[in-house]
Order: sequence, then C-alpha cells, then structure tokens
Amino acid sequence: MLSKKITTALNKHMNTELYSAYLYLNMSASAAAIGFKGASNWFMVQYEEEMVHFMKFYAYLNSQGEQAIVGQMPAPSSKYNSLLQMMEETLKHEQFITKCINDLTDLAVKERDHASQIFLQWFVTEQVEEEENDRELIGKLKLIGDNGYGLLMLDNELGTRVFNPPPATAT
Ligand SMILES: [Fe+2]
Ligand SMILES: [Fe+2]
Repeated sequence: MLSKKITTALNKHMNTELYSAYLYLNMSASAAAIGFKGASNWFMVQYEEEMVHFMKFYAYLNSQGEQAIVGQMPAPSSKYNSLLQMMEETLKHEQFITKCINDLTDLAVKERDHASQIFLQWFVTEQVEEEENDRELIGKLKLIGDNGYGLLMLDNELGTRVFNPPPATAT
C-alpha cells in the first residue's frame, strides 16, 4: 500500500519518464535529419531505455494496488542544430531527472515507505550512469569540434550502441 502523496508523486514521475522517451525519439529523428545515422541509433536506444523506466513505474504502481495514469505532456523540442547541442540538452534533462529521483527518495524516506525506497534505488544508480555517459560524449564532441573526420568516427561509434532489454521478470 502506498500513501496518497507517494502515489501522486510516482504517477507524476512515471509521466516524466515517458516525456524523456518522447524527447529522445525526437532527438533520434533530428540526428538522422542532419545526417548522423549512428547518433540517431544512440538516441533510439535511449528512447527504448526510457520506455523501460516508464514501465518500471507503471508496473510498480500497479503492483502496489494503485492505478498508473498516463496524462497529457508538453511536446518535446524537435529542433537541434548539432550533436553537441543535443547532448548538452540530454545532460541537462538527465540532471533534472536525477533531481526528481532524489526528491522522490526524500519523500519515501519521510513517509517511511521502505518498499518505494528500495524501488527508487535502481533509479539512483541508473542516473549516475546516464549523466556519466552524457558527460563523456559532450567531452568527445567538444574535442572534435567541427572536424568532419572526427564526427564521422564518433557517429560510427554511436551506431554500435544496442538496447539490452531487461529480463522478462523484472518490473
Ligand atoms: Fe529515465
Ligand atoms: Fe541508462
């Protein structure tokens, strides 16, 4: 059983994870539109990961006997001029998500909701990885600047990213 406060906060964040998925889907198309097929793949994998994050919240709410509710969301941006701009936006967004996860964890502690604290732990760890990946790519992009060969090499690298679906039993 979850408190009303926790249920509302988890539902809200579930929708934010869905927004993340939509954001990266737009970035995937934007990267393709400016000729970076590899980066387009990287963002598509990111989209798939966000759908997993979204579903984790969805399944957790339902498993606690609460109703997961998908609501309206703002349209994510679809106008980007460079990979660097996309990655900087990605890092900024993930830093915001980290703050949301931290706030949710604070709330779960305050409410003495141990199950939700354990559920949120996975996301605390995941956010460290997300921010680390984004910072690494921003560093590489800054190093490359507008060197065509460098961008081509990085795009090839981003094209190798594969989505690893979670085991069927994981929620
Ligand atoms: Fe996420
Ligand atoms: Fe991730």
